[in-house]
Amino acid sequence: MVSLGLEDKVVLVTGGNRGIGAAIVSLLEELGAKVAYTHRSISSIKGQHGAIAIQADVTDKAAMTAVAEQVEQKLGSIYGIVANAGITQDNFFPKLTTENWDAVIDTNLKGVYNTLMPVIPKMYERKEGSVVCISSISGERGNIGQTNYAATKAAVIGLTKSLALEAARYGVRVNAVSPGFIETDMV
Ligand SMILES: NC(=O)c1ccc[n+]([C@@H]2O[C@H](COP(=O)([O-])OP(=O)(O)OC[C@H]3O[C@@H](n4cnc5c(N)ncnc54)[C@H](O)[C@@H]3O)[C@@H](O)[C@H]2O)c1
Repeated sequence: MVSLGLEDKVVLVTGGNRGIGAAIVSLLEELGAKVAYTHRSISSIKGQHGAIAIQADVTDKAAMTAVAEQVEQKLGSIYGIVANAGITQDNFFPKLTTENWDAVIDTNLKGVYNTLMPVIPKMYERKEGSVVCISSISGERGNIGQTNYAATKAAVIGLTKSLALEAARYGVRVNAVSPGFIETDMV
């Protein structure tokens, strides 16, 4: 496999127990990274070679702060973050409940904030790091029944662009990926 310079680099992936996140964890491990990933519930976890699995909800800022501390204690300074955890609660707009709206905003947008905030200041201090946020084609083009989801994924692109401008002077890269539809539990 081609080297991407990730050998022994510590990378944290949220929602790494299944779907796209699990594929990211596997690839990072193949590339020689030291990987830690979060999962929401123990019951859905699948084996991930040597990666460290930590149960934590991205909507809980204190829990995500504890995750960052735990990863740095066990593996070393976090070099990379993949903010992947996300949910859908789709419905046509008139049927979209406040609960649907809040749950998707809390997980897909505030969850990214909760994931990045404990680590970004340390990346600035260390003058290195790389962040990848998982957005969606829905955030770029919109999608029927996904006003809440598309709003969060568009917001993640805005967050990424702004943070990338700010972080560049510290040698920290911030990017987003917008996948199209991929067959996972989500879809
Ligand atoms: N599958 C697709 O077609 C598609 C397309 C574009 C973008 N995406 C995005 O890719 C990412 C991964 O999606 P997927 O298709 O693998 O879905 P998935 O449902 O298989 O996996 C989602 C992951 O996020 C985790 N998660 C959800 N809520 C969480 C919370 N509150 N705290 C911690 N973890 C939580 C889940 O435990 C799971 O590991 C999501 O951000 C999704 O929006 C998916």
